[in-house]
Amino acid sequence: MDYELISKIKDNIDIVEFISKYIPLVKKGKNYFGLCPFHSDNNPSLSVSREKQIYKCFVCGEAGNVFNFIEKYENVSYKEAIKIVGNSVGILTTEIKIENNKNQVYYDMYDLANKFYQNNLFSNLGTEARDYLEKRKLDFDTIKKFKIGLSLNNNDSLYNLLLKKGYSLEQINNSGLVRDNHDIYINRIIFPLNNVNGLINGFSGRIYHGENLNKYLNTSETPIFKKGENIYNYFNAKEETRRKKYVILMEGFMAVIRASTIGVSNCIATMGTSLTKDQIGLIKRLTNTVYLCLDGDNAGVNATINNGKLLLDNNLIVKVIPLTDNLDPDDYIIKYGKEKFLSLIDNPMNYEDFKIRRMKLGVNFNSSEELASYVNNVLEEISLVNDEIKKEIMLKNLAKETNVWYNTLEKKLNELLSKKQISKNNLVLPVKKKKDKYVKTLEFIIYYMLIKKEVITLVENSHVYFPIDDYRKLSLEIINYYNKYGVINISNFLDYMENVQELKPILKEIISLDLDDNVSNQTILDYLKVINDYNITLEIKRLEQMIMNEVDPIEQAKISNKIRNLKMGSENND
Ligand code: CTP
Ligand code: MN
Repeated sequence: MDYELISKIKDNIDIVEFISKYIPLVKKGKNYFGLCPFHSDNNPSLSVSREKQIYKCFVCGEAGNVFNFIEKYENVSYKEAIKIVGNSVGILTTEIKIENNKNQVYYDMYDLANKFYQNNLFSNLGTEARDYLEKRKLDFDTIKKFKIGLSLNNNDSLYNLLLKKGYSLEQINNSGLVRDNHDIYINRIIFPLNNVNGLINGFSGRIYHGENLNKYLNTSETPIFKKGENIYNYFNAKEETRRKKYVILMEGFMAVIRASTIGVSNCIATMGTSLTKDQIGLIKRLTNTVYLCLDGDNAGVNATINNGKLLLDNNLIVKVIPLTDNLDPDDYIIKYGKEKFLSLIDNPMNYEDFKIRRMKLGVNFNSSEELASYVNNVLEEISLVNDEIKKEIMLKNLAKETNVWYNTLEKKLNELLSKKQISKNNLVLPVKKKKDKYVKTLEFIIYYMLIKKEVITLVENSHVYFPIDDYRKLSLEIINYYNKYGVINISNFLDYMENVQELKPILKEIISLDLDDNVSNQTILDYLKVINDYNITLEIKRLEQMIMNEVDPIEQAKISNKIRNLKMGSENND
């Protein structure tokens, strides 16, 4: 992390002014208040502190510095947030290295390999492949844009080229491009894959003259390519996705490439598999809305249902572009043309309606049993919808299409909902139990460590052991930070903690506490004593357990002596 650059940017920013550009803020006392953009807020609960250069929401617990604000607000990574904030004050952030360079050699190899493959395609050995691409209506510009290439056979191997360029055998063997001195990709059309920063990190090779081989051959795991972490066309679709505020998710390369030929460039592809957690995380960085445009066959419909659920579970808005005649987007666009496809995108279907439409397939509306079971299935679906208006519209549609009285449906839906509520309460209650007194005490202490350096010293000198791992680790981080920089500053500490992601949730939670910043040293000492007494109680319990398991009376006496001392010690401290 480039702290020099970070502090240079921060020196030019006042968080109150900065956030004011996004949300109106009103001064109240020392701080500024506005409607929190991170939960649906009717009562201004976002507080921005000029003094601390941080924001926090007392209701949803979101908190951080100016970079964290942009990270969350614009759905971007921390590093991208630094760029955005930096650019807003005219500080160029090209110095920010996106990735450390230990894998640079592999990126170089893939870059070289891609150039080699692209060359092959336009050599005289590429005639057949060029004919194939032409048959598939991929013109020169498209081939260039997606950097499509061609791998030949072993007489002109990539392996020889890599050796000639001086790569070591170890590097070549780890690259995923060569196995046992032979190229992996033989006689295939090559589609390069890019990582999130646009660097080529893998290939997928397609057969093109009907060999009886796997249609696509994909890069195996390498230091720069992990299966399930890549999304096809992610980097190129980024800008257009942010502009349009939604992304179109497809299954394959050809679909994405075809859509781009008609000017639809906010498309990405999973490359055939179902969405992974990593991929969903990447999508969330771009947008909160996903249009699913998967193949129109049965497998595609199932994938739409499954992927839609995964996305919804991750709080994304899901719409569907349903295709007909079992076609994939590539064939659909070729068959029906640009205008027809654009009009589909302009009128995406609600995910729920798509699901309901599928439930309806094959239901015999003349059979009362089939109709009743259809109605129940749809009601179940409607009960999952959060939006009241949407719910009502769906219910009205159901009444109309089935001729069941609206009030009957509504009553049935409410029954379903109240049943759900009961089971939900049963589930939630034990989890949402009140915070332990000691957890709260630790949070108090850490909160004040973050705003008063005297408190850090008090904690350090007290040698009180924090009995919960994460809180202990966090307090040690604060102490280390203070010893290193000689000051404590929440805003800068947040940047420092970017390297310790696992502690960020509790750090945010503590920062967002609504506490009076004035605290006396005595109060801190009292808190520390609460923790210390708690530790002693635990230790006494442990020793008492030991006595019970001890058969030797002399040992027993020793232990009970220890217990007595501990008990006296904790009293004397009062
Ligand atoms: N796929 C794969 N390996 C296969 C088949 C498919 O990795 N053996 C992935 C590819 O990323 C492919 C996607 O799944 O793009 C969708 O598969 P499919 O619909 O069969 O391919 P298309 O993209 O339609 O390609 P084409 O039109 O050339 O058959
Ligand atoms: Mn296809």
